[in-house]
Amino acid sequence: MNLEQLKGQFIKLYGRKPEKIFGYFSPGRVNLIGEHTDYNGGYVFPCALSYGTCLFIRKTNDHQIKFASANFDFTAVIRLTDIKQKQNDHWINYPMGVLNEFIKLGIRLTGMELLFSGNVPNGAGLSSSASIEVVTAIAINELYEAGLNRVELAKLGQRAENLFVGVNCGIMDQFASAMGKKDSAIFLNCDTLEYELVPVVMNGYRLVISNTNKRRGLADSKYNERRGECEKAVEYISSKKRIQNLGELSFDEFKGLKDTITKENILKRARHVITEIQRTKDAVSALKSGNLKKFGVLMNGSHDSLRDDYEVTGIELDTLVEEARKVEGVIGSRMTGAGFGGCTVSLVAESAIDEFIDKVGRNYHTRTGLKADFYTADIGDGARKLGEY
Ligand code: GLA
Repeated sequence: MNLEQLKGQFIKLYGRKPEKIFGYFSPGRVNLIGEHTDYNGGYVFPCALSYGTCLFIRKTNDHQIKFASANFDFTAVIRLTDIKQKQNDHWINYPMGVLNEFIKLGIRLTGMELLFSGNVPNGAGLSSSASIEVVTAIAINELYEAGLNRVELAKLGQRAENLFVGVNCGIMDQFASAMGKKDSAIFLNCDTLEYELVPVVMNGYRLVISNTNKRRGLADSKYNERRGECEKAVEYISSKKRIQNLGELSFDEFKGLKDTITKENILKRARHVITEIQRTKDAVSALKSGNLKKFGVLMNGSHDSLRDDYEVTGIELDTLVEEARKVEGVIGSRMTGAGFGGCTVSLVAESAIDEFIDKVGRNYHTRTGLKADFYTADIGDGARKLGEY
């Protein structure tokens, strides 16, 4: 992303004016382990990527919001009074949802011009949407002196996605985008929002992200369906022990209560959540003690549970993972994000990366007819201001 070019594009679009243009950036994320645990009050372990979304923004007084993006053709001018009206499935719903949340908080917006530019692959499960929400939130927060802290901004971004866009996501993506730290992953308790930054020390290994390039067609409705199934599990268990969240139960407690769940698929969903929370805690301990091999084994366990119990993988993700695990030098491979397409993350010896990309890419293509993309993940910092222009 070239900031000079983006500034040039902004001026071409909106003209030169005496008011300053401000630049902000917020990253996408990759989750290392702890999948579909956030909305169950469990643990996650994501890190921010160096990829993300830039926003150039200028305040106006015309009570209009002008939206444009370097990535999409669709642009729009929306009156502030119309911000609460969702715009079909257009990308502007993400920043609109955020603006709407600031309006609900009583922040008096006066109008603005916005130009977004992102380099997180879209719909790949690397949180391009959270990066748009958080970059909008930090910009508005600063420009209108709303005084929210980072965690509040992450929560505001989540509300925008839940209430405006209509995806009932947890807090992980917005939190990682707002709070990420270079070369560290965030061990986050999604119930209390207490977190710890854990250095990701890889000793000769790298995180490689592989993109199935499968469009995540039904992902959002399936995602909401899984959330509903977890709520059902809570209901069943509450007949014997009152709980709010599956994350409140230890593995042993769950063993004692699981017979209350009389539906097989609900039992499987709950089992994934409970075992995944334990794997996440174990993986963080393994990483802290330098035991990468164990971390990799837990990553594998996570994928297998998401495939067999949570049933959110599908042929493309499973094929990428199977092929990855065949390459010597790979110590763990799993899907990352919501699933149903999107990306995998693998722990690969540095010396084996070229072979990995070559072999996994070829075999994946032969087996699915799709072409995968590969990126080595650099763990970057969370949301930040780029400058004033
Ligand atoms: C999506 C959601 C997150 C989380 C993951 C699954 O990325 O936005 O909140 O639930 O799926 O772990």
